[in-house]
Amino acid sequence: MKKILVTGGLGFIGSHTVVELQNAGYEVVIIDDLSNSKIDVLEKITEITGVQPDFHQIDLRIKEDVHRFFNSVAIDGIIHFAAFKAVGESMQKPLDYYENNIGSLVYLLQEMKNRALDHFIFSSSCTVYGQADSLPINENAPIKKASSTYGNTKQIGEEIIAESCNAYGMNAIALRYFNPIGAHESIKIGELPLGVPQNLIPFITQTAAGIRKELSVFGNDYPTPDGTAIRDYIHVVDLAKAHLSALTRLLHKKNNSNFEFFNVGTGTGSSVLDVIKAFETASGSSLNYVIKPRREGDITAAYADTTLANKELNWKTEKSLEEGLSAAWKWQQKQS
Ligand code: UD1
Repeated sequence: MKKILVTGGLGFIGSHTVVELQNAGYEVVIIDDLSNSKIDVLEKITEITGVQPDFHQIDLRIKEDVHRFFNSVAIDGIIHFAAFKAVGESMQKPLDYYENNIGSLVYLLQEMKNRALDHFIFSSSCTVYGQADSLPINENAPIKKASSTYGNTKQIGEEIIAESCNAYGMNAIALRYFNPIGAHESIKIGELPLGVPQNLIPFITQTAAGIRKELSVFGNDYPTPDGTAIRDYIHVVDLAKAHLSALTRLLHKKNNSNFEFFNVGTGTGSSVLDVIKAFETASGSSLNYVIKPRREGDITAAYADTTLANKELNWKTEKSLEEGLSAAWKWQQKQS
């Protein structure tokens, strides 16, 4: 049985990936510092899969603790989710973001290099493309200068991994996520935003639950069919399964180069108004929303060309936008 380290394994995407890994027979070790997750998630993962993952509460910024962990546990691969992810906050606290998102990555890669470990999967983001010149976005689209520190940590992270793979012969895959939504069908794990949600779906579900008065739709003057911005919303369980495919590819040495990257989305763009309509259908309730000016830093449209991921990872999405929204709504109702 292969043992996989999942950093940030109690977070939103991490926890869903741990479930898929355990269901597929992998042994999972989680590192999480609980800075943006709850320890209860460990129990929920155990309830869903019947297996309690090994858990270590470690802050990956503390190099000695990372070193001690690697001295005590032998692993066959790493899926690295642990990172700060709030775009707005990253502009206020750039050094915290660089220390956490880049420092931790360097320490993990150093341990891999020093122990000749292999197989690294990195959480990247479609944010590396900025506003792409053509849609859907394929992996050949140029990387644009990052508009936030958060986005820059993903770009720099990819570069650090590419150079490490080149220099030390390790193999890695970066998955560039589009917009993850939803919750596990058991409704035992889901997204737990801290404070006021910045992302669309948690804001919608909290508005429907009466926690927020109304949803602000940021801009209806974009050059899109209904004037609102377009994104590619992918069900978190589909996204989790992409990690499994990427891991299998590395473990079976099917990768074409030391460092590969794939877009992970559905291939379908939905506008903010499309999402609101789909949510109203999925939840059977109407949503209170107002049109507001555009949010600074937002792009007009992004959705994935999934051809490469479909072919090379032998993976495709199975769940619809409505299923994602319905699960997110059930999850929200369980919280309130
Ligand atoms: C954001 C981040 C991106 C990150 C991703 C993680 C920015 C600029 N980008 O992407 O780097 O990888 O989250 O999920 O923050 N919207 C509203 N009202 C709201 C919230 C959002 O209209 O209250 C709109 C936004 O303008 C956007 C869409 O909904 O058009 C999606 O927004 P969001 O969920 O924040 O994701 P992104 O901005 O695409």
